[in-house]
Amino acid sequence: MIKTNFPIRQFADLQTPFYYYDTNLLRKTLQTVAEESSKYQYHIHYAVKANANPHILSIIQSYGLGADCVSGGEIQAALQAGFPADKIVFAGVGKADWEIRLGLDNDIFCFNAESLPELTVINDLARQTGKTARVALRINPEVDAHTHHHITTGIKENKFGINLDQLDKVLDALANLSSIQLIGLHFHIGSQLTDLNPFRQLCHKIDALQQQLLQRNIQVENINFGGGLGIDYQHPDDHSIPDFKTYFEIFHQFFHALPGQKIHFEPGRSIVGQCGNLIARTLYVKEGSVKKFVILDAGFTELIRPALYEAYHQIENLSSDEAPEIYDVVGPICESSDCFAKQISLNRTHRGDLIALRSAGAYGEIMASQYNCRQLPKSYFSDSL
Ligand code: LLP
Repeated sequence: MIKTNFPIRQFADLQTPFYYYDTNLLRKTLQTVAEESSKYQYHIHYAVKANANPHILSIIQSYGLGADCVSGGEIQAALQAGFPADKIVFAGVGKADWEIRLGLDNDIFCFNAESLPELTVINDLARQTGKTARVALRINPEVDAHTHHHITTGIKENKFGINLDQLDKVLDALANLSSIQLIGLHFHIGSQLTDLNPFRQLCHKIDALQQQLLQRNIQVENINFGGGLGIDYQHPDDHSIPDFKTYFEIFHQFFHALPGQKIHFEPGRSIVGQCGNLIARTLYVKEGSVKKFVILDAGFTELIRPALYEAYHQIENLSSDEAPEIYDVVGPICESSDCFAKQISLNRTHRGDLIALRSAGAYGEIMASQYNCRQLPKSYFSDSL
């Protein structure tokens, strides 16, 4: 069957490979996030790392979301797109001095600090500029997200956050860092979680932690649960909008906020994942002695997720409705890992056919590289094609 939900006629004139974003779906997703989170007055900061395309950012900020940034460049991109500085949070294990200064100069809402040495530097730089830095401590809660090991962040051996057994030491030290105001606790256990049980465990962990902190007379204003809600890569059309209702309900039901506490989230993938597709053209169909290969003009330079995380992206031939055949779908890069899928069924494919790699809106375009001196992919949008 020829797929009708892509504007294939317009695609015909465009140079491939490129990213195509369904901005209608993005808006519907944002509408859902706004509706479901406002039931509990939750604060949402979009994780810019998932996709920093300026048009995408400007749509997201128009729905009133804040931004979660992990570099000075992301802070600049967020500010340029119109995200208000007082809704920007800044995380990352390795913040450079200029990046911390950028955050201070713009009076961002909060630094999510990940270690004592970092806190010391934030304190020094804040004092030098005559400011007080608002800081949340990123705690490693030791909750296993059971997701791909490259994107699990909340277990003891990960580099992220302050270990629970070191928290007391950090809190003792904070008492002497007078240019820092402790305003919150921050957590992020991993990405692409489809089993939501780890989030429930996270709630219990934080409840217990807060009781411990109360014994030290510490009660913070803000709790930030990070991101991590997964998307359905297998069924992008049936589940084009993630189940934000159930997701937020879990935190409402299982986390016991202390009086006046504000709750924050940092979703990335769940907001932009399904609205983006990588569109490529078939260069050659090569019949090897044991396999048939569809060789695309897109490779891991445009979408690295299959090579890096063995990630699955649904692949569709937009130009053919002939009987399916079995192919390996590969790119042109000179590395064996430049393979999008092995032994998949695709409508019989010919040179020139347009191929869609679905669910590529998150960690797709933003992770593109120029390896092999290739050009970065362009992007097109359903609202302006
Ligand atoms: N907050 C923090 C502190 C994070 O480290 C991340 C993602 C997020 C929020 C957003 O998580 P999300 O809602 O998108 O799951 N490149 C990988 C994913 C890396 C995620 C890194 N941190 C991939 O393509 O699967």
